[in-house]
Amino acid sequence: MRILLGVSGGIAAYKVPVLLRSLREDGHAVRVIPTRAALQFVGAPTWEALSAEPVTTSVFDGADTVDHVRLGRAAELVIVAPATADLLARAAAGIADDLLTATLLTVTCPVLMAPAMHTEMWQHPATRANVALLRERGVHVLDPAVGRLTGADTGPGRMPEPEDLMRAVTTLLAEGTLRDDSADGPGQHDSATQQNSETEQDLTGLRVTISAGGTREYLDPVRFLGNRSSGRQGIALARAAARRGADVELVAANIDASLLPDGVHVSAVETTAELAEAMHRSAPDAHVLVMAAAVADFRPATANATKTKKTDDGVVPPLELVQNPDILASLVQDRRPGQVVVGFAAETGDAHGSVLEHGRAKALRKGADLLAVNAVGTDQGFGDVPNAVHLLDADGTEVVQGSGSKDDVAAVVWDAVVNLLRDRDRDRAGAGGGDGSAQR
Ligand code: CTP
Repeated sequence: MRILLGVSGGIAAYKVPVLLRSLREDGHAVRVIPTRAALQFVGAPTWEALSAEPVTTSVFDGADTVDHVRLGRAAELVIVAPATADLLARAAAGIADDLLTATLLTVTCPVLMAPAMHTEMWQHPATRANVALLRERGVHVLDPAVGRLTGADTGPGRMPEPEDLMRAVTTLLAEGTLRDDSADGPGQHDSATQQNSETEQDLTGLRVTISAGGTREYLDPVRFLGNRSSGRQGIALARAAARRGADVELVAANIDASLLPDGVHVSAVETTAELAEAMHRSAPDAHVLVMAAAVADFRPATANATKTKKTDDGVVPPLELVQNPDILASLVQDRRPGQVVVGFAAETGDAHGSVLEHGRAKALRKGADLLAVNAVGTDQGFGDVPNAVHLLDADGTEVVQGSGSKDDVAAVVWDAVVNLLRDRDRDRAGAGGGDGSAQR
């Protein structure tokens, strides 16, 4: 999810880097917009280093890209912490004299404010009126905590602790109050607009097999050709499926053991041949097969049984590659009636076409029921970073698009699988052959 984190100039700003870190660890992309006064407490380099995004305070800094409008339109959630009495007053009055307050006037997504100030300021009629007005307009203004303030004084006015703010964010997301972008295209999902809640056991009775990670192709016993896949997307899919009631097998290609989720059967593999064997072994009993692994397209034509040695003449051994079989295509070919096969495609886009164009061509080529097309680059797709995904059907038509953390993308994928199974049930029932339940 794209979050704007506004920071105004109160001493509580010193706690906000912890909040920023937690948001990033949960997979959110966070842009920090401090006020000039906030930078007196925590400097721009701290915000930039922790958010990996630039930090500016004035609308004139990003005048060429009209940042206050661009950032406001892209935001899916705004958090202002701490929100000082001054910030609350400016927001309530609609004053736009810096980047943060100007952006607050352009956002249409939910806004969560965490006030922090001295008790007298919090209790002043002006602040009370500003808070009431903001709440009336739908801004989620938290009550400050009661406790120690800047000095020895205590009372209401303390900013809630970062973990309490994280809980408030989670509650807000769970309430489903975030913007529904369904009018913008074929359908958009994020963690709060998931149509099938994770608490719904809508995958109960389904056996799903998911490949994850990246395969390795050995040149000799110690060297291999590999790729950058961390396996996190496949793990998120496995975790979400298990939570939604499925019986899950995770075919894990070279995944760090500490990342493996509980409650799923794990089959560890290394090479493409092993991964193909594991998927085909599982396929006859599976209702859903997901190929989320990054499979090596090529392997060395021969692998040395012993370690390849350097020679004194400096001649480098030739590396001849042969193509690996396409596991997804073979699963599609062997698909039994009613079985759903899902593929993933990581694309960068190039001179020959955009991410989506390459994705469409691949959807037609592979024939999977659903193909999740990921835009990958230096800051998207690999590792613990936010993801964006277009879900295409076998004709290359976009079914839905989603973005956010890998958990959000996993939810989008499972929602689409559930919808597909329900549509098929309906079609069968319409044709007089069904009982209304997914073919399981
Ligand atoms: N895949 C597979 N077997 C392969 C290569 C890929 O099953 N030998 C699967 C991946 O797990 C993924 C989908 O095919 O679900 C698309 O993978 P990708 O690497 O994007 O596609 P390729 O067919 O390898 O095409 P290219 O690399 O040329 O874009």
